[in-house]
Amino acid sequence: MSLSEKTEKWLKENCGVSLKGKTVVVTGANSGVGFKTAETAVCLGADVILACRNEKKADAARDELLIDRPDASVKVMKLDMASFASIDAFVDGLEESGTDVWAFVNNAGAFHHPGEKTEDGFDLVIGTNYIGVYYLTEKLMPYLTALSHEVLYVNTVSVVTKIAGKVDYDDFFMTKNPRSLAVYARSKVCLARYTYALAERMKGSNIRVEMNHPGVAVTPLGLNALGAWATRISGAARPFFNSPEKSSLSFAYLVSHDVKPGSLVGPHIAFDCYGYPKLNRLPRKVKTGADELIRFTEKEIEAFKPTKQAKKELGINE
Ligand SMILES: NC(=O)c1ccc[n+]([C@@H]2O[C@H](COP(=O)([O-])OP(=O)(O)OC[C@H]3O[C@@H](n4cnc5c(N)ncnc54)[C@H](OP(=O)(O)O)[C@@H]3O)[C@@H](O)[C@H]2O)c1
Repeated sequence: MSLSEKTEKWLKENCGVSLKGKTVVVTGANSGVGFKTAETAVCLGADVILACRNEKKADAARDELLIDRPDASVKVMKLDMASFASIDAFVDGLEESGTDVWAFVNNAGAFHHPGEKTEDGFDLVIGTNYIGVYYLTEKLMPYLTALSHEVLYVNTVSVVTKIAGKVDYDDFFMTKNPRSLAVYARSKVCLARYTYALAERMKGSNIRVEMNHPGVAVTPLGLNALGAWATRISGAARPFFNSPEKSSLSFAYLVSHDVKPGSLVGPHIAFDCYGYPKLNRLPRKVKTGADELIRFTEKEIEAFKPTKQAKKELGINE
């Protein structure tokens, strides 16, 4: 599989950079927008690490990427965002191999899993999309800040943060009223709020923290979110949904534009659901409330940290 002519043209006109010799890590890179982000990075010359929970799917994605570019460096690392123990093992692996991370894209995400839990007992959607990214990020930062160059750190949020996603600490995991879109929106609002605060915190360091979002893209997750609408996508509505490839270009935009830390990049047409990436406006609710959110998150993580036994089974050093 290779990038379309339109994408190649967009890249030529909007992203005149080479990532040769630079390592880009993409989570959830075996599918949808993550796969296309990895492909774009490969096309720009990067060495790419596909950080995925399912190694079989990740191997298949790597093989697909290598068809057109057999000389590219594409590696697979195991990472399950719904398991603290797996995140610990992943960060240990990056550190032990001394991987010189140039960009890291937290793209993995989950949408509709009512009643399901992460390995550590959190609601699966909030646990994967927010708590997992928070835990991974805080674990990674000491390693990334010790690198001798700028690192681009990107968290993937959602256009849904613009219209939904109230955060309520009395029922943070929404057990009383677990509507999928509301749970998902909360997970992404929390992620955006945390990422905005992280970008502030990292100012003056070598880490440039940004956010991207894919608009509404035709991927397994996107179709799941659209539900009944999905069946109509092949008809007249189709032009209003992005291909995963077009949605993935926010990464190329971020590597080639001088964007202020803590910005949001994504499609900009039809309420930011569709089109090529541009700088978007951040919803105001994302810019406040991070202190309370982080205090809450730290307490939750402290209560659910992986047991010594789980760490032992995964061969993680204390
Ligand atoms: N598509 C849209 O319209 C849309 C809109 C707004 C935001 N987003 C966001 O865009 C990102 C990419 O989604 P997509 O649309 O490209 O969906 P997708 O094709 O379904 O890809 C989701 C990826 O996340 C991975 N993933 C899920 N849970 C994981 C976990 N616990 N650990 C590690 N990886 C995990 C999936 O792995 P498996 O293949 O193993 O399941 C898959 O690789 C997500 O963060 C999503 O929330 C998408």
